[in-house]
Amino acid sequence: MNIDFVILAAGKGTRMGGDSPKVLANLAGQPMLQNLINTTNNFKQSKRIVVVGYKANEVKKQIKTTKNTDWVKQNKQLGTGHAVKQALTSLRKGSVSVILYGDVPLVSSATLNKLISSAKNNSLALLTFNKDNPSGYGRIVRKGRNAIDQIVEEKDASASQKKITEVNSGIMAIKSNFLSKLIPLVKNKNAAKEFYLTDIVELANKNKISVKALLLKDNTEVLGANNLQELHDLERAYQKRVAESLIRSGVRVADSSRIDIRGDVEVGRGSFIDVNSVFDGTNTIGRGVSIGPGCFISNSIIKNDVTIHANTVIEDSIVGNDCEVGPFARIRGGTEMQSGSELGNFVEANRSKVGKSSKAKHLTYLGDTTLGARVNVGAGTITCNYDGNKKHKTIAEDDVFIGSNSSLVAPVKLGQGSYTGAGSVITKNVGKGQLAVGRGKQVNLKKKKK
Ligand code: UD1
Ligand code: CA
Repeated sequence: MNIDFVILAAGKGTRMGGDSPKVLANLAGQPMLQNLINTTNNFKQSKRIVVVGYKANEVKKQIKTTKNTDWVKQNKQLGTGHAVKQALTSLRKGSVSVILYGDVPLVSSATLNKLISSAKNNSLALLTFNKDNPSGYGRIVRKGRNAIDQIVEEKDASASQKKITEVNSGIMAIKSNFLSKLIPLVKNKNAAKEFYLTDIVELANKNKISVKALLLKDNTEVLGANNLQELHDLERAYQKRVAESLIRSGVRVADSSRIDIRGDVEVGRGSFIDVNSVFDGTNTIGRGVSIGPGCFISNSIIKNDVTIHANTVIEDSIVGNDCEVGPFARIRGGTEMQSGSELGNFVEANRSKVGKSSKAKHLTYLGDTTLGARVNVGAGTITCNYDGNKKHKTIAEDDVFIGSNSSLVAPVKLGQGSYTGAGSVITKNVGKGQLAVGRGKQVNLKKKKK
């Protein structure tokens, strides 16, 4: 059966403060709305109809969609019912519609599947949950244990209705032909003078369409983000969920409330992640890896048995088996560390290749550099790769030994097994096995007597 997701994203989100549309607020490293769109992409035969209004072009520009997506404009934000009305002409005949709110971004595919099954049986299927402090949410008014009378919005609720803790998540599923019949009947006779989508519950009852509620036990996937505090709470709930799923998969996490995964991460069994590390974009981390406190790892591949010490930054790079990195290292720009290599404290490597078992353990900059196998880079070595105009390459072949505090002025090549003396400025290629010394000679002068 075709599934048409109607995603409401036209509001400004005044309660968030700021001028950016609420649905673009960042959650788990991407706009809230993107989280939702990605979930809907898991459904076969699905189509997305995204209702935009406030800063519509900005929203369209920032969201990545698949081909089966329509953008529909709601010029004035007259309420959620009015927003859905704009989508009606895009619905496919015979489909089930699933309505999603752009600010309720973490609903799972499993939950949506349950709702869809219920809608296929000719019901209006609502997703509800219990909230100790229900303020701001629509309350679910039941007329018996299994029947729902109506949803009452906060502004219209009586004192006794305000005490109801079962609330509307905003998410619902219904056959599209029923939706098209009910939505035009929604009026704006309420305290906010808005066309409330939630009125379709009462309308469904009147039109003999059964209303079924799916009451979620774990409400973290349906919390809304209307203000910065709620956005914060949602982020924390999400992060905890991801951390706990890592733990279940065999990863030791020092503290599930002090890890942030902003994107997709895969971590192999037996790995350990200490506190305060951030994983951004798409990362793959192997087995038996140890990640020290305070690391930032972005769009990288870390292979097996790697040790990453505290406060290390790794971006767009590959770290091979058994490597050691940091503390305080920065590896970036497509750098590849081959197995058993080490880049230690205060080492930066950019667009470089570090061969097997090569080491730069202290205070070094490697830019546009290729190190062969077993190269030793002395403390304080700098590749001078930039002449103010262009970047140039440095090559050190297998078994090269670079003395401490060498400056390698690129383009330059150090032949296999060659050496540079400490403190050298190397401007010319060094042949295989040669020792290059490029520094002022030491002169010891006698001190004049006073
Ligand atoms: C809504 C529900 C409430 C529910 C809560 C769950 C209504 C009337 N109320 O309240 O029952 O408990 O969500 O989080 O539906 N939007 C538009 N066009 C509009 C108005 C809103 O596209 O004209 C979009 C917003 O951008 C937002 C979503 O619809 O993404 C929900 O709107 P919002 O104003 O946040 O509704 P709530 O007051 O949270
Ligand atoms: Ca909301």
